[in-house]
Amino acid sequence: MIVEAHAAGRVNVIGEHTDYAGGLALGMAIDRGTTVRVERGGSVVRLRTDHDDSEAMVAIDIDATEMATARIEPEWARFVAGVVAELQPPTGATGTVRSDLPIAAGLSSSASLQLAVALALGFDGNALELATTCQRAEQRATGAPTGILDQLTIASAVDGAFVLLDCEARQTSAIPFPSEIAIMCVDSGERRAVADSAYRERRDECVAAEREIGPLRHATRGDVASIRDDTVRRRAHHVVSENQRVRDFVDALRDARYGDCGALLLEGHASLRDDFEVTTPRLDELVSHLATLPGVYGARMTGAGFGGHVIALCRADTDAADQFGWRARASQGVRVN
Ligand code: GLA
Repeated sequence: MIVEAHAAGRVNVIGEHTDYAGGLALGMAIDRGTTVRVERGGSVVRLRTDHDDSEAMVAIDIDATEMATARIEPEWARFVAGVVAELQPPTGATGTVRSDLPIAAGLSSSASLQLAVALALGFDGNALELATTCQRAEQRATGAPTGILDQLTIASAVDGAFVLLDCEARQTSAIPFPSEIAIMCVDSGERRAVADSAYRERRDECVAAEREIGPLRHATRGDVASIRDDTVRRRAHHVVSENQRVRDFVDALRDARYGDCGALLLEGHASLRDDFEVTTPRLDELVSHLATLPGVYGARMTGAGFGGHVIALCRADTDAADQFGWRARASQGVRVN
């Protein structure tokens, strides 16, 4: 039996570095992603990409679930191995992987690969189960304590809508994408893997804040102000203010106050730059430049940071930003044929 599974990449619109602190985020699955087409059978998962190089092929034994996933080469094989280890499929599969997502660029190419592989190997369950299985696969593959944002956004996204994530309740809701606006994706050209970034350090700093003032999701600005260590206080300030920005963004979106939505994106970027310190000079420069263009309401980095993509919220009927990137369409996250 031939199975074709597709999983989109994602744009996180607002709510960055909040997921692992039980926070809020608003994102969408995009019209670029990964397609895995396989024939099931045998005891090995054998996948080939259309890249013409020595790294084009991976073969993972379905019984070798305890291998050191984070050290397998080539790198993309780690994500396949992570999914195999978590899913423990009854049979292997042989087939191809095609992706039109830029790799390690803040658009969740790895989550997209994991979800497509899991579905191609016969994953059976709901969106949250798919997301948590693939989150564990990603943690095995990268060795980084990544949150559920990417996988849950993609697994639950429906066509033509944003996905609002509540990472504490682990609930999602769809919010219609208005036809008057567009989201542009602009590549900074900078690449940095989550595993070798300061991701773990940031997460540990949030844990340190929570030890002092309790869950950040329920902390007030007053609680944050009482944190003794300056760095930990700034990290907590980002998370608490970012959760509020997600709420405000959703309200502004529902009222068609797109100027307010844009201002919130710019505030979010400034907070990631000054309080959370995960931007780069190139990302800051791009955001500032995009924000000056006619028809652009606001811009910010998207994803873990330290490079990757910037998004801009624009009026749908203006094309001033089009020369810098491409328009992402809010799409269904996963499908299997
Ligand atoms: C990466 C992680 C997510 C999330 C973002 C930052 O994409 O995989 O879990 O923490 O960074 O918002």
